[in-house]
Amino acid sequence: MIKSIEDTVILNNGVKMPQHGFGVYLITDEKKGCEAIDKALEVGYRAFDTAQFYENEALLGKILSESSVKRSELFITTKVANYNQGYDSTLSTAEQSLKNLHVDQLDLLLIHWPSKRYFFETWKAMERLYDEKMVRAIGVCNFEIHHLEELCAKANVKPVVDQVECHPYLTQQPIRDYVKKNNIAFESWSPLGRGAVLHDTVLGILAEKYNKSVAQIIIRWHLQKGNIVIPKSITPSRVEENSKVYDFSLDESEVKIIDALNKDKRTGDHPDVIWNQI
Ligand SMILES: NC(=O)c1ccc[n+]([C@@H]2O[C@H](COP(=O)([O-])OP(=O)(O)OC[C@H]3O[C@@H](n4cnc5c(N)ncnc54)[C@H](OP(=O)(O)O)[C@@H]3O)[C@@H](O)[C@H]2O)c1
Repeated sequence: MIKSIEDTVILNNGVKMPQHGFGVYLITDEKKGCEAIDKALEVGYRAFDTAQFYENEALLGKILSESSVKRSELFITTKVANYNQGYDSTLSTAEQSLKNLHVDQLDLLLIHWPSKRYFFETWKAMERLYDEKMVRAIGVCNFEIHHLEELCAKANVKPVVDQVECHPYLTQQPIRDYVKKNNIAFESWSPLGRGAVLHDTVLGILAEKYNKSVAQIIIRWHLQKGNIVIPKSITPSRVEENSKVYDFSLDESEVKIIDALNKDKRTGDHPDVIWNQI
């Protein structure tokens, strides 16, 4: 069982990735962003999840490169934006991402959303970036099982991870089963349901039992299920709170109680809508 924020999962290409990272969607204000990301580094976060679409790669790159934490200790993920999909634009914008992030190699590059029209060209470019060692690992986001099947049937390199929306109201069991069987890591985005799950009564009862916040209970649930998890907060006290989930554990029946809260309720788009749109 996971014991600390330093623990890693081993991806299918042998690369180690921290299981508990920090999401930076909507963190664009320089002062507040600095405070939140500095706090994240201080409390032990080493994995940071950004995207070309978030328009904060440069801010994250600046803060990380000016911090006292060595590059070799960090794990930086970014994503090819929908508007940058396609072979040539994936190559050129990945290079821009490297510059923005002040690094000469990315730890993980993901396709942000599946696109029926572009996904394979985008993936071919990512395979090239992987072969040329500009990225240590490549993966996808928001791929449903049929998207993964289509990709894996044609790809030379299998995705290391599928990052999908997952929280107690959207537990994604079918995708979890599929990726487990196919040795692809499962990563939860919006792990707190963007706040929508924080007022749940059942989770409130568990929080009271463990003298923890509901956010901490949810993050612990993700970790115990083996999910890679990337909660976001711009509030330094919450950044710290979300890191303090290693002094208790849920028992098996409590994990199942949280699983049973599933309503297949999304906060974001259904991937098949985007699949046909881009
Ligand atoms: N691949 C994709 O398509 C995709 C899509 C969405 C997100 N993501 C990634 O996943 C990360 C996390 O998802 P998310 O940012 O959408 O949502 P989230 O982490 O589920 O929730 C963030 C929200 O919860 C609040 N919050 C955080 N900790 C809290 C606490 N301890 N108590 C009360 N409220 C708390 C935050 O408020 P404050 O910030 O105001 O403190 C913010 O409003 C993103 O940052 C991004 O890196 C990926």
